[in-house]
Amino acid sequence: RILILDFGSQFTQLIARRIREAQVYCEIHPYNLSLAAIRAWQPSGIVLSGGPSSVADADAPLVDAELFALGVPVLGICYGLQLMTHLLGGRVAKSDHREYGRARLEILEAEGPFQSLVAGGTEEVWMSHGDRIETLPEGFVAIGRSPGSPLAAIAHRQRRLFGVQFHLEVAHTPAGAQMLTDFVRGVCGCNGQWTMHSYSESAIAAVRAQVGQGRVISALSGGVDSAVASILVHRAVGEQLHCIFVDNGLLRFGEVEQVSQVFRQYFHIPLHVVDARARFLDALAGVTDPERKRKIIGNLFIEVFDEEAKALGGADFLVQGTLYPDVIESVSFKGPSATIKSHHNVGGLPERMRLQLVEPLRELFKDEVRELGRELGMPEEIVRRQPFPGPGLAIRCLGEVTGPRLDVLRRADRIVQEEIREAGYYDRVWQAFAVLLPVRSVGVMGDGRTYEETLAIRAVESSDGMTADWAHLPHELLARMSTRIINEVAGVNRVVYDISSKPPATIEWE
Ligand code: XMP
Repeated sequence: RILILDFGSQFTQLIARRIREAQVYCEIHPYNLSLAAIRAWQPSGIVLSGGPSSVADADAPLVDAELFALGVPVLGICYGLQLMTHLLGGRVAKSDHREYGRARLEILEAEGPFQSLVAGGTEEVWMSHGDRIETLPEGFVAIGRSPGSPLAAIAHRQRRLFGVQFHLEVAHTPAGAQMLTDFVRGVCGCNGQWTMHSYSESAIAAVRAQVGQGRVISALSGGVDSAVASILVHRAVGEQLHCIFVDNGLLRFGEVEQVSQVFRQYFHIPLHVVDARARFLDALAGVTDPERKRKIIGNLFIEVFDEEAKALGGADFLVQGTLYPDVIESVSFKGPSATIKSHHNVGGLPERMRLQLVEPLRELFKDEVRELGRELGMPEEIVRRQPFPGPGLAIRCLGEVTGPRLDVLRRADRIVQEEIREAGYYDRVWQAFAVLLPVRSVGVMGDGRTYEETLAIRAVESSDGMTADWAHLPHELLARMSTRIINEVAGVNRVVYDISSKPPATIEWE
């Protein structure tokens, strides 16, 4: 297995993704992981990520130079290369101009990460750096060069230390995935046995060992993560698991029925559906402030879930669908960030109910969770679900959340979902949904005047929800949605399309 030390690059997660695509297990840890901890982890290889710092800075993040004497192969990327050079006695200097963007790399030696490539050939690579290597440390040779970086790739053969100035983890370096595969498999000798099948087996065994004879509960949200986590735990401990699905009245059209059916009929997992629709509506009456809505829903969810768990006889463990990106202690060079939205998930439960957590997805990325779902036999319609926020339709129903307004929104959203699927765009966008605006405008229908609310359609492309671009859906598709919504959903006489990206807008409107 491969250890990735993170120096704060925006691409660190991509390094992990590429290595796992080579079916080799890897983890990301902060750069300052102690040498003792690194030894104890027993890596087959170590990757040093890029990062925004310069080795010349007084507060540059460093590692113990002993790291290079462990006998473990090391690959330094960008800042990782500069750090290795600096610590082993080479010289890193600020270059006159930043090298940024595509560059042609000439392969000088087909070895290490280049062992599948041809010496003398060239590869397109992605550069993004200010500093560059001026003199090699002792024992190193250049194995690749670019017009802006004569020492763009270096190697110490005996010690199996390698460094590249460019980013091989990004898609703009087409041969990059092969180079990483060559490093982790060819150099480090990892055999590529990390597959979802082996993962699910070991995860099931781990849950069994952790839980023993204990009682476990899980909260389903209708989303992919909680469903996959629950099914895996059910495989591990069967009847010891109780799944609770709180129907808060803020779910999409047909969602409660679909989830119930999949769990009960398909997997034979008993599911406790709690009808708390009226309680949520009462609690939200008269509330229009987005943060208050989020807090009310989060707190009430905990209350309802707690009551239901007690009614079922209590529990010792709670299943949580935590994913790897939430686990990584990322190295932040930016300082504390402002709260934009207080997210609602099952986060507040464990303290209140004194439960231990079972988190079988902690090591996985989102697309690996989908893969695991398939491995566990889940139907595609659940595995491919677009993300849906914990506070549900309440944060898409701007202004006051009432039964009738939710109904309008749900019906319009159903049309958006149907049309986007029909047009083959469901898997091509990150999310597509409807938002009901408390804005009335004048319209004319038949011979009469209307004065009704506005429906916004939101569709975005994104890889992780952190940033997003509004989706350039075909006009004909938007036209069909608009016509159907205005004709079929009473209470809406105008449809608009949201053309803002994130940042500066966010994906959800509240
Ligand atoms: P924003 O609106 O912050 O959304 O751009 C980014 C992504 O997060 C989802 N989202 C949530 N997910 N609980 C969740 O589990 C929440 O409270 C929540 N709020 C937003 C949103 O749907 C988008 O995919």
